[in-house]
Amino acid sequence: MADKKKSGEILNVPAHVGIIMDGNGRWASKRGLPRKFGHREGAKTFRTITKACRDMGVKYVTYYAFSTENWSRPEDEVEAIMDLFEKYLDEVKDFIEENIRIRFIGDRSVLKPTLLEKMDDTEKTSENFTAMDCLLAINYGGRDEITRAVKNIAGKVKNGELSVDDINEQLVTDSLDTSFAPPVDLIIRSGGEERLSNFLIWQAAYAEYYFTDVLWPDFSKKELENALKAYSDRNRRFGGVKSSK
Ligand code: IPE
Ligand code: IPE
Ligand code: MG
Repeated sequence: MADKKKSGEILNVPAHVGIIMDGNGRWASKRGLPRKFGHREGAKTFRTITKACRDMGVKYVTYYAFSTENWSRPEDEVEAIMDLFEKYLDEVKDFIEENIRIRFIGDRSVLKPTLLEKMDDTEKTSENFTAMDCLLAINYGGRDEITRAVKNIAGKVKNGELSVDDINEQLVTDSLDTSFAPPVDLIIRSGGEERLSNFLIWQAAYAEYYFTDVLWPDFSKKELENALKAYSDRNRRFGGVKSSK
């Protein structure tokens, strides 16, 4: 019976987890606090969960931190979130000691130069860390990412570097911001909504989904374990008939 799976055991750890950190605003509102306090609290959860992912054997974790649609929020909230990113990148040295590599995805062209400088610095300082890659999606939208990739490919066709026949799924995958990462195995969304909100729409085409009502600032290591257990029990068929059990 040695190889029989015990109930609740995680035999199958996802290589790439995408996390939609939702519910910060509601967490703050419930306490009568301005929404930005929820974002501040959510940033603490991000640190705990990143370390927990690493400890559980996840190799890539991608967080949805700010979407291309989030610019439509009130200016003071957008500003508070951007300030929080800058503040956090100053403190990110902690992660570097954890052997976690930090990378960013999304359109950087409209971000503040002071933030961009910190992003570049963080990526450079952590580039040789190997325990796990932590990707932060800032000004990220799946449609925007695919559009940028298409433009890039079209440019190469125009200048003769590629022919139309060279365009295939692998080339598109390799032209995305996540070119270095494997496909997403599991998407976790906190905060009760059951949607992708334009997150990793190409990469998560065959992902499993785990939704929880827990608001992101309250999301704990236990919640992460529950998500990974649920994933481990899923039967991924990828359009075929094989059983993974
Ligand atoms: C997610 O929390 C964080 C960002 C989108 C930056 P929200 O701010 O969306 O929180 P709710 O959904 O309003 O509670
Ligand atoms: C998704 O959350 C974006 C991030 C977590 C950064 P939203 O709160 O923006 O998503 P919707 O508006 O509920 O779809
Ligand atoms: Mg939300």
